[in-house]
Amino acid sequence: MITRRGFLRLIGGSVLSMVSLSAYAVGIEPMLLTHVKRYALTPPHWPSGLTLRVVALADIHACRPWMTPERIASLVEQTNALQPDLILLLGDYVAGMRLVTADVSAPDWASALSGLKAPLGVLSILGNHDWWHDYAAQVAGAGPTVARRALESVGIPVLENDVVRLEKSGHGFWIAGLADQLAIRPSKALGRHGFKGLDDLNGTLAKVRDSDPIVLLAHEPDIFPKVPRRVSLTLSGHTHGGQVRLFGYSPVVPSDFGNRYAYGHVVENDRNLIVSGGLGFSIMPVRFGVRPEILQIDLG
Ligand SMILES: [Fe+2]
Repeated sequence: MITRRGFLRLIGGSVLSMVSLSAYAVGIEPMLLTHVKRYALTPPHWPSGLTLRVVALADIHACRPWMTPERIASLVEQTNALQPDLILLLGDYVAGMRLVTADVSAPDWASALSGLKAPLGVLSILGNHDWWHDYAAQVAGAGPTVARRALESVGIPVLENDVVRLEKSGHGFWIAGLADQLAIRPSKALGRHGFKGLDDLNGTLAKVRDSDPIVLLAHEPDIFPKVPRRVSLTLSGHTHGGQVRLFGYSPVVPSDFGNRYAYGHVVENDRNLIVSGGLGFSIMPVRFGVRPEILQIDLG
């Protein structure tokens, strides 16, 4: 028989460990344990002789106190130190929750990102939060969003259903960027039911003019079942790995496919997807089992 004292000790101990666990999840893991998540692969249609280091940042969600311009500047330094050939930004620069002490303005986060340096440059796409928190863009049902203008003002191109051809060591390749799949929110006032994506996968890929390999950037991984084999690699963010992930399982994932595309490297029918766990928070300032990550992908 468990005594009352024993029971209270048990409860007290549980409460204490809950407190320290939540301190870890809210404080330590998110803020201190940013790490570089590395992948090395030779995707389909990849020419031998093209070695390419891509470093990608996803889901920055700038806001105080969690993701200040100073912290973004430090992530920028860590990114540059990896000596990438190309830097990719996978969307959601804007705060994704209300538990913030202050906003970080678009010019401020963009100016912090302007320190990113790579020989082949920096390319970006937008995420759902970059659209959702832009009232004028929501009303118009169209951009350019504040986030897009901020990125462009610091010289970072934004690919919304657009492509760029790059070259390294005499090999060409394409970076294709999809417009956001959840860009326009439902609104009774505006007579809109359900989310409306602005993504045009076929139109985007139609802009690719030769048979060189394609890397597709798509903020939400849910497009992946529709991505043709012609695309060598798809890069996504958005899920934050569910933000809470235990034993390779995420209880809550903002994806119609649940855990299928929650996190990491997924290969389906010879098609490759890498989903970053991202850097910031959505909804609540909690991360557990999914450390904030800088994505490094060595292709070749
Ligand atoms: Fe997102």
